[in-house]
Amino acid sequence: MEAIVYETFGGPEVLRHSRVGKPEPGPGQVRVKVMAAGVNPVDYKIRYGWMDAFYPTTLPAVPGLEFAGVVDAVGEGVTHTGAGAEVLGWTTTGAYAEYALAGDIAAKPAGLSWERAASLPVAGETAQRVLDLLRVKSGETLLVHGAAGVVGSVAVQLAVAAGVTVVGTASEANHGHLRALGATPVRYGDGLAERVRQAAPRGVDAVLDAAGQGVLPLSIELLGGAERVVTIADPNAADHGVVFSAGGTEPRAVRTGLAEHARLAAEGLLDVRIAEVFPLADAAKAHELSEAGHARGKLIIRP
Ligand SMILES: NC(=O)c1ccc[n+]([C@@H]2O[C@H](COP(=O)([O-])OP(=O)(O)OC[C@H]3O[C@@H](n4cnc5c(N)ncnc54)[C@H](OP(=O)(O)O)[C@@H]3O)[C@@H](O)[C@H]2O)c1
Repeated sequence: MEAIVYETFGGPEVLRHSRVGKPEPGPGQVRVKVMAAGVNPVDYKIRYGWMDAFYPTTLPAVPGLEFAGVVDAVGEGVTHTGAGAEVLGWTTTGAYAEYALAGDIAAKPAGLSWERAASLPVAGETAQRVLDLLRVKSGETLLVHGAAGVVGSVAVQLAVAAGVTVVGTASEANHGHLRALGATPVRYGDGLAERVRQAAPRGVDAVLDAAGQGVLPLSIELLGGAERVVTIADPNAADHGVVFSAGGTEPRAVRTGLAEHARLAAEGLLDVRIAEVFPLADAAKAHELSEAGHARGKLIIRP
């Protein structure tokens, strides 16, 4: 099968469009034909070799954590799905490939496109996990740094739907998008604390940092403490006494969340903008764009 493979850690140039053996499903495993793979910033961080503590990587490796596709073979003992089922979820062997072994999966609603389905697993799980950690509830105000990013925008939508007032940081080009999602946009950079105070005169109750751009001290100052600040992107969290949330939700909760987010997306209640769709051979271009940090939505690879 065709796949993107890297044999050494490094920049986008280590990604090679290659032919490799199809993974065979063992007992309890499911193989899918990948129709769309989601590109996440963590894919390039793993590719550089920065993430070994969270994602131990054996080389050669195929990038990609999430996919939408069609079940094409199941291992012994699999009863929860079968060949031909349209699913979305996580993969254990890498999603930038024609075929992948699935981890946690949920059924893909018929009306949901492959691209939109492949955008949901990582962003949905991450956003839900952090909102749960922060215990944000109706009537409270949440500040989201990096609100126009894929994770940030899903967190904005889930929070707004739960009755939370959301202030989100983004560059001005994304302010209209944030307003459409129900958040009050503010520009990041110098003077941010003052702009947040103006946007939320009664103060903010919790902060999600999905940008990782050195905003933890300012967030602590706005809240008067680090207790309700969570970052998913700032490696210096511990220096500030802030929780870095890196995943680890139990599989049943992941599957339940996936199914729920797929339902919301199919009903038009949760949307992830698709920035660009790349053929498999252009995976390195997708990584360059992801790494630049300002993609206007989700980057997708179609094997
Ligand atoms: N720990 C976890 O479990 C976990 C899970 C998923 C993702 N992550 C991490 O979370 C981060 C976001 O992921 P993503 O998929 O949402 O990425 P993304 O879609 O590429 O979004 C990044 C966003 O950051 C914004 N941004 C850039 N510079 C900024 C700044 N100085 N202040 C505020 N916002 C800024 C950009 O908005 P503008 O274009 O408007 O500047 C862009 O929308 C990445 O670092 C990723 O690795 C962690």
